[in-house]
Amino acid sequence: MDTLILDWLGIGLRWTHLIAGIGWIGTSLYFMWLDAALIRSNLPRPDVEGYAWLLHSGGFYLVERRKLPPGQLPSPIHWFKWEAAMTFLTGFPLLILVYYMTGGVYLVDPAVSSITPGWAVGAGIALLVVAWIVYDLLWTSPLARGRGRAAIVASWGLLFAVVYTLSRVLSGRAAFIHVGAMLGTIMVANVWMRIIPAQHDLIAAAAAGRTPDGTLSTRAKQRSTHNSYVTFPVIFTMFSNHYPLTYGHPLNWLVLSLLIVVGVAARQIMLARDRGKPADWWLLPAAAALAVAVYLTSPAWLGGATGSGDRVAFTAVRSVIERRCVSCHSRTPTDAVFRSAPNGVTFDAPESIRAHAETIRTRVVLLRNMPLGNKTGMTDEERTLLGRWLAQGAPVDGIADRR
Ligand code: HEC
Repeated sequence: MDTLILDWLGIGLRWTHLIAGIGWIGTSLYFMWLDAALIRSNLPRPDVEGYAWLLHSGGFYLVERRKLPPGQLPSPIHWFKWEAAMTFLTGFPLLILVYYMTGGVYLVDPAVSSITPGWAVGAGIALLVVAWIVYDLLWTSPLARGRGRAAIVASWGLLFAVVYTLSRVLSGRAAFIHVGAMLGTIMVANVWMRIIPAQHDLIAAAAAGRTPDGTLSTRAKQRSTHNSYVTFPVIFTMFSNHYPLTYGHPLNWLVLSLLIVVGVAARQIMLARDRGKPADWWLLPAAAALAVAVYLTSPAWLGGATGSGDRVAFTAVRSVIERRCVSCHSRTPTDAVFRSAPNGVTFDAPESIRAHAETIRTRVVLLRNMPLGNKTGMTDEERTLLGRWLAQGAPVDGIADRR
């Protein structure tokens, strides 16, 4: 398909995806907070379970949580279910557009595994389906009884296993987005397969004047709590493609696992504070995980070439870049997929090469994830050459002297 059409389709999907996701997560954060903030003493009437006064944009609101009197159903009732559906209905096509329809450039990486783009697409889609089935079975099994400790441990174990396995199969970037897509799919399925049916039952019970099925609503509450914990890690994976330092890291599975811990801990602290039972000790594991992630991505850990040896001539650097980079990074790219310079970065002029010296060091020498999928077959010697040149201060003959 024409890249122009694909680009505009991408803009439309991404825009809607963000708006739907913000609406969904916004209501989720709001209702988790509201449940915790409700005053449950000195209730005004017997049918009220809790209430809260709110002030927002020029008005006072009284929100009450109520038991419905038998046989009476107010109308209309707002369900807040379409935000979740819309987030999935825009997110899945976006995954297809960006990762499955671009000939594998973002999906696979020969330096990671030899999986073909076709098999990678199959694996990605299978993951989304199988993950939900396994998760749902786990949380309806005896392991989830009581406080569900066994199921919690198993869930964490499975999550880290998926993170690690994906990082060994797909490109780093695709591994991260698939972890996010998997968790996001579980969240949507929780809403539509577990939470909404429980709400249907609540309504049917209220209409018929019978007691609603307790297991359904307990399960719905449990699933909505899961969704709430998973939200922050999912949001990170969704913007992680902007941070090659994370997905492109040699230990990217560890970096992502650490950031998942940070996200869950942050949510835990927020929820505990809402409930008035601060759990600020969670700051400790969160800070520790973050510190390790920052250290792993620092030059102290990543290393890189030194500037020792002969001065590297700029002509040598330029010929490497011309051979390995300008098929994409040029005002007139020749690559079949990238018809305009990726991220607007071009290396046609010596000045532009010099201007991007720091990002070139990160992507080519430290992380080694440029050229993309090593499509142009860059050798280790060429990376070392660029590394030495960068360590020598990236001198550009003629230009460096003028500064
Ligand atoms: C097959 C096409 C292709 C080739 C060849 C290629 N790149 Fe890239 N490059 C991309 C794409 C796509 C992006 C944007 C996505 C990303 O950041 O991963 C990018 C992003 C970058 C960035 C980050 C730009 C920014 O500031 O956002 C740098 C730096 C970079 N490339 C350097 C290089 C260098 C140096 C080479 C050659 C050694 C090279 N690339 C070869 C496709 C390519």
